[in-house]
Amino acid sequence: MGMANRENFPLVPFFYFFCMLGFVFIPTEASVKKYQFNVQVTNVSRLCHTKPIVTVNGMFPGPTIYVREGDRVLINVTNSAQYNMSIHWHGLKQYRNGWADGPAYITQCPIKTGNSYVYDFNVTVQRGTLWWHAHIFWLRATVYGAIVIMPKQGTPFPFPQPEREETILLGEWWNNDVEELVNQGNKLGLPPNMSDAHTINGKPGPLFPCSDKHTFAMEVEQGKTYLLRIINAALNDELFFAIAGHNLTVVEVDAVYTKPFTTQAILIAPGQTTNVLVQASQVPSRYFMAARPFMDAPLSIDNKTATAMLQYKGIPNTVLPILPQLPALNDTNFALSYNAKLRSLNSPQFPANVPLKVDRHLFYTIGLGINPCPTCLNGTQLIASLNNITFVMPQMGLLQAHYFNIKGVFRTDFPDRPPTPFNYTGAPLTANLGTTLGTRLSKIAFNSTVELVLQDTNLLSVESHPFHLHGYNFFVVGTGVGNFNPSKDPAKFNLVDPPERNTVGVPTGGWTAMRFRADNPGVWFMHCHLELHTSWGLKTAFVVENGKGVDQSVLPPPKDLPLC
Ligand code: C2O
Repeated sequence: MGMANRENFPLVPFFYFFCMLGFVFIPTEASVKKYQFNVQVTNVSRLCHTKPIVTVNGMFPGPTIYVREGDRVLINVTNSAQYNMSIHWHGLKQYRNGWADGPAYITQCPIKTGNSYVYDFNVTVQRGTLWWHAHIFWLRATVYGAIVIMPKQGTPFPFPQPEREETILLGEWWNNDVEELVNQGNKLGLPPNMSDAHTINGKPGPLFPCSDKHTFAMEVEQGKTYLLRIINAALNDELFFAIAGHNLTVVEVDAVYTKPFTTQAILIAPGQTTNVLVQASQVPSRYFMAARPFMDAPLSIDNKTATAMLQYKGIPNTVLPILPQLPALNDTNFALSYNAKLRSLNSPQFPANVPLKVDRHLFYTIGLGINPCPTCLNGTQLIASLNNITFVMPQMGLLQAHYFNIKGVFRTDFPDRPPTPFNYTGAPLTANLGTTLGTRLSKIAFNSTVELVLQDTNLLSVESHPFHLHGYNFFVVGTGVGNFNPSKDPAKFNLVDPPERNTVGVPTGGWTAMRFRADNPGVWFMHCHLELHTSWGLKTAFVVENGKGVDQSVLPPPKDLPLC
């Protein structure tokens, strides 16, 4: 594991000392990369509407963080908007350094208007595509961007070197102010209106009105191969993505190399990233890239398609493009078989270190429900829970409370299994089985191996849920439809080359089993990456204890850590 950020400073005098002695200084490839993020309000037009949105540096999507494995990254975030802000570097492991992780009230208090905070972290033993986004309320609707981590100098990709690469950020666009819509929804006890468009690199494309300037285009040359770094930054939609006439070869998910496989379309959940190779092997023309939701248990249908252009060099804009065949909105079979094809590369250079023995077995049920709400217009509100607990956001950062041992902020009695087992995916259950509110976390011993089974339930309705764990990657060792069977299903686990990721879709009315080694001390958020469900309380956190070794405890907080 890498040196701690704030402990690098004492090395500087030694460095000068050796230089003065005339030692030949061989520069290491690692360097310090600095970024300035100004959070501000910017007017942006889409779909014939102009509205002020929160951006970073006036850009939508925001700037790409471009670093190399081993780099130290310093990102100075200055908040000039009227909202509290915090930014999460989604998928960065932040070893011992939760202070740089970003989720508001979990690892830090928000950066208030007029204030700054420097996110200071090392990029250690990770390379590939990740992303960053606001991690407070629904502000990530417009505050997001790509993170590209290049492999160490001299280390090639484990696939053919592409001619060029492009980041493809899939998102959602609302014509109205998102924070306002959410507040309205909360008053009614209902979900806010769904988005008005899907977007590719911030642009919805010509299937939406006023698209002229709002279509993303990528130029390619026939015969060459390109790397697309695809990121699902949408708030609430799992998406299919395809390019007309072109196959996609998946080579990486969530910044972990995979065994390459070729597919007509990919499925990508909010929070996930997928790198694909595309060969410009077709008759030179214009081809649509397209993204459209996957929803096999829709509460309300959203089949809006975002498009962008793959344009061969020399082809004029007057040529009519071709639309790709996307799987149907409710194509469960495509979703299951696509996910079954994902395998870690598991090469000697990039091994999959799957925990084979489990110290701690966790079984969490995912439930939706309706709670009384005297202040809501309907007298009820929708809620969500894990093991019947709806998570309540604290008033201060949990990591602070943990580090300084401040009592009364959270409890560590989150149950390892649901209080009462039931037929989780049987007939719809309308009761919410006594859901309780609480800021309850699970305490995990340092370096123990954890197996977590996430089980969807038919409380109110089955639905698929992309779960994201901060501070870690995990191995997706098994998944299935229906109820998890602890006496039969583990025998079918893939403990050799399961996909390693930071966000996994729990199938509609099904379960997913993941394993990880708890070697990163701190407080780590885990939540459904559908913003709607997160805001309903579908979240919790792990407190991973410090280890005994000198380099196994949470680092001291930085001096500029925002206070509540
Ligand atoms: Cu990308 Cu806690 O989120």
